[in-house]
Amino acid sequence: MPFSVKPLAGQQAQAIEINGLTKADIAEPGVRRQLNELWVEHGLIVFRGMEGGSTHVALSEVFGPCQTHPIKQSNTPVDHPELTNVQYEPDGENGMVYSVNGVELGAWLPLHSDLIYVDKVNHGGILRPMHIPKAGGATRFLDKIVAYDTLPEALKARIEGLEVIYRFDINIENMKFAVDEVKLKFLGFKFKDIQSRLHLYPRSVHPLVYTQAQTGRKILNLSPWFAEEIIGLPREEGEALLRELCVHMLRHPAIYDHPWQEGDLVLWDNWRMLHGGAGVPRGERRWMQRTTIKGDYALGRLETETAGARELRTVDV
Ligand SMILES: [Fe+2]
Repeated sequence: MPFSVKPLAGQQAQAIEINGLTKADIAEPGVRRQLNELWVEHGLIVFRGMEGGSTHVALSEVFGPCQTHPIKQSNTPVDHPELTNVQYEPDGENGMVYSVNGVELGAWLPLHSDLIYVDKVNHGGILRPMHIPKAGGATRFLDKIVAYDTLPEALKARIEGLEVIYRFDINIENMKFAVDEVKLKFLGFKFKDIQSRLHLYPRSVHPLVYTQAQTGRKILNLSPWFAEEIIGLPREEGEALLRELCVHMLRHPAIYDHPWQEGDLVLWDNWRMLHGGAGVPRGERRWMQRTTIKGDYALGRLETETAGARELRTVDV
């Protein structure tokens, strides 16, 4: 291997840190194969000392084609349509601000899976910091294999074969199974626009447990943000079960907060890891760029194919 691999410090799951990878290495078929095997095995990889732009895109394409938006959007850099800006500006017209347990935070997002609110869930993404805030700004991850393994055996048996319905709603104040006290303070124009069309969007359905094909390991396939109900259970029973599972995940001791360093490229498997934003004080700027790696684990479906489904598949959260 032309690079070094070690366990990622500060986390108790299987994430790793890679040092010494160059852009030239990324083109080598043997390296690409090794990186894919490491991704499946570990789920979260922090690459140190990396450049952005074309290197960010080239590394992402080791793991699958990147999703680009069919319509040019203001948050896409001109030179690389594969990249998306994830940006919080204190005085900006976009972004969201919440009071979370009494503290005002920008760039705060609860743990979730990207695109769980549609049928085709992307395989992953790579994040890179463009401006690291002076305070806060960590990206949070939780390994859903660890989340499954740490469930009581009786609960594992109870959730086998169940399916969860998800509903898209960008306002986190409306999150059904939250553990924090959340109040919306500011919703930017872009999100107000999306929010005005919620009635057009269908709900999605995904299995609550699934097995990683390459390893046979089971995954607690639940995204606490957007989860709404369980198919086939009486409403109260389903909600109580989802609440128990969401508390298990949202308060899990294995949640890892990644403290960003210049030159980091962080790859996560969206089929296996939950991610979220720890948030920044309202007056801090935070700017990231990300790719979205395509894929379809082929276990999701829409409840109904509505007119809004096409747009919902392009919403980046
Ligand atoms: Fe996300």
